[in-house]
Amino acid sequence: MSDTVRIGLAGLGVVGGGVLKLLEQQGTLLHSRSGQQLETVAVSGRERAKDRAADISALKWHDNPLDLAADPDIDVVCELIGGADGIALELSQATLRNGKHLVTANKALLAHHGNSLARMAEESAVNLGYEAAVAGGIPIIKALREGLTANKFSGVYGILNGTCNYILTEMRDGVRAGAPRDFDTVLKEAQELGYAETDPSTDVDGIDAAHKLALLTSLVFGCPVDFDAVQIEGIRHINPVDIQFAEELGYRVKLLGVSRASAAGIEQSVHPCMVPENTAIAHVDGVLNAVVTEGDFVGTTTFEGPGAGAGPTASAVISDLADIARGLVVPVFGVPVSALEARPKAPPGSHVGSYYIRLMVVDRPGVIADIAACLRDQEVSVESLLQHGRRPDEAVPVVLTTHVAEEGALARALAAMGELHAVLETPRMIRIVNLS
Ligand SMILES: NC(=O)c1ccc[n+]([C@@H]2O[C@H](COP(=O)([O-])OP(=O)(O)OC[C@H]3O[C@@H](n4cnc5c(N)ncnc54)[C@H](OP(=O)(O)O)[C@@H]3O)[C@@H](O)[C@H]2O)c1
Repeated sequence: MSDTVRIGLAGLGVVGGGVLKLLEQQGTLLHSRSGQQLETVAVSGRERAKDRAADISALKWHDNPLDLAADPDIDVVCELIGGADGIALELSQATLRNGKHLVTANKALLAHHGNSLARMAEESAVNLGYEAAVAGGIPIIKALREGLTANKFSGVYGILNGTCNYILTEMRDGVRAGAPRDFDTVLKEAQELGYAETDPSTDVDGIDAAHKLALLTSLVFGCPVDFDAVQIEGIRHINPVDIQFAEELGYRVKLLGVSRASAAGIEQSVHPCMVPENTAIAHVDGVLNAVVTEGDFVGTTTFEGPGAGAGPTASAVISDLADIARGLVVPVFGVPVSALEARPKAPPGSHVGSYYIRLMVVDRPGVIADIAACLRDQEVSVESLLQHGRRPDEAVPVVLTTHVAEEGALARALAAMGELHAVLETPRMIRIVNLS
């Protein structure tokens, strides 16, 4: 048996470049740890002449990445191009069909095609590694599939998108410094610093976090990946006023991906949430990610670390390559594909929890009574009410927090409030999450 794992890299950008560099620098260490040489033998990108993170002049170049899947000198293809469909999907399918191992950092691809690709990997008895696809450098896939395999899980949640976490952290810092900055201003700064893409929608609209959550849900609950079941809300509407009130109420605003088993089924959601200030996850700031798992024997475990970037993501990709070198094959989603069991999905509106509500209200007698009536009619009870200052006939923010209620009932109450003459803007709601 050869003592070399021969790697074909498709995509030489942030992640691909990081992988090239890491393999070059840590070759000896990785050989001694994994028992085999991890050697890049061929690469593919769009533009051959581009400057890369490492020298590729001695490597075989394929104009068409699909040729990597057919190259007899390659044992494993790393798909580091990106995109849910197109060339990334074609390459992944061809790789597995040809009996080669596949390693990918592509959460969009797996959120949409994970079930069929896992089946193909099983049929060809090869690895499909995707440690880098969820929470970058945090080894959460390995933790769930291996380290925590003895547990049944009641849920998993986390901060799964560094761009959103950076923006929310910056907005909060602005509020605390007495110089609030709105979402658009902070997003622009994040783009200038390279923390947000030119088209930021996949990140700030919650889609990237939802891709990752769909994969975690499958691992935790042993069900097929079901991206369409994730209820998604991004952070564009978060206002510095909400962050100011969160501070006052003892919370921090975080975009959380949450997956839980409830009486109504599996609930998967990505939402801005208010998390209590005294919890560990409230203090995960900037571009960092965190994942919290709830297992029946182990209890709660928290993982925190860098969720993106060349170094952390390459570190995760190479952990999959080391598994291949060691001959370690673990089912893609923790159990064989035939054992994945579809679970009922919780219908929209069935979430039960407490909520923060903000209304922009013209300050006139009787307004608060009208708002309270909207909640009473839906049997939602108020826990607290905050209003600062009085400016008769001018809009002022009024904030309420509720006791535990069904989200469907709350949505009906908000719709009724939105109809009141004195309520000037669409009422805003943020979930309050009571974490274990
Ligand atoms: N960036 C991160 O921190 C991070 C973290 C976790 C996961 N990921 C995932 O990792 C994957 C790659 O992300 P990235 O940030 O490295 O992207 P990137 O910097 O944009 O790199 C993409 C690479 O793919 C190549 N490429 C694009 N279309 C191609 C085609 N048709 N044929 C051959 N090569 C093609 C590009 O070639 P050229 O260089 O020649 O243009 C480039 O090298 C994505 O799935 C992403 O979601 C990224």
